[in-house]
Amino acid sequence: MYSDVFCKVYNTFGWNYYPEIFGEQLLVFLERKGWKPKNALDLGCGTGVLCEILHESGIAAAGMDFSSGMITIARERNSQIPYEVGDMVTYRPEKCYDLVTCTGDALNHIRELNRVEQIFRNVYGYLAGGGYFIFDILNRNEVSTSEPFEMEMEEGLRVWFQMTTPGENEVNLKIRVFRGDVLEFEENIRETVHDPEEICAMLKQVGFKVEQCADRLLDDGGHGTTWFVVAAK
Ligand SMILES: C[S@@+](CC[C@H](N)C(=O)[O-])C[C@H]1O[C@@H](n2cnc3c(N)ncnc32)[C@H](O)[C@@H]1O
Repeated sequence: MYSDVFCKVYNTFGWNYYPEIFGEQLLVFLERKGWKPKNALDLGCGTGVLCEILHESGIAAAGMDFSSGMITIARERNSQIPYEVGDMVTYRPEKCYDLVTCTGDALNHIRELNRVEQIFRNVYGYLAGGGYFIFDILNRNEVSTSEPFEMEMEEGLRVWFQMTTPGENEVNLKIRVFRGDVLEFEENIRETVHDPEEICAMLKQVGFKVEQCADRLLDDGGHGTTWFVVAAK
């Protein structure tokens, strides 16, 4: 779970650009399929950017996330969209959804494969027949480390970041928040890089038909830094 401080850092530094790009591409993808879902659920919805894009396109979008700080920001962004705090590993809504999404490497935050499989089983249960589960996962070839860098968050408040790969298939984002020279806060966000073939085999075992697993969502779009998986029920 992200701390409230990290949620604020996430929102401030514009990491919302990813769901903005993904959302635009998803709408084109759906249009090309000639299919408009009536409703959609975004797992690990973060600050609610993708839900808002879907909502504005006329799809009844809902979102859920483990971090209450993210849900607070999402609700402030759009109070008409229903949001819930929850863990997607155990989350099983009673309602069925035509479209379920999980993006911005939210699934890489689930580090154990048996827990990823549990999410797939849950989604299969609440996805409507003929519906789609569309998600991304980190692409090992695109994972990079970074030298530490700093940005000013507000006057007197600096945020320090560093991306490392502490182990094979592990990514760690360390952030530190300084007021003046005093360290106020430190957090590590640890993710696991999953093997796309293993993930697709798992989806098939659960009952999904894997229509696409590629480094782009749109055939003619530029490649992304993740794998995009389209699974149908
Ligand atoms: C990198 S953010 C991406 C947020 C959003 N999807 C986006 O594209 O901006 C990953 C999100 O996954 C959420 N998350 C991590 N583990 C989760 C879990 N078990 N259940 C629900 N959400 C989770 C985090 O709280 C965080 O908001």
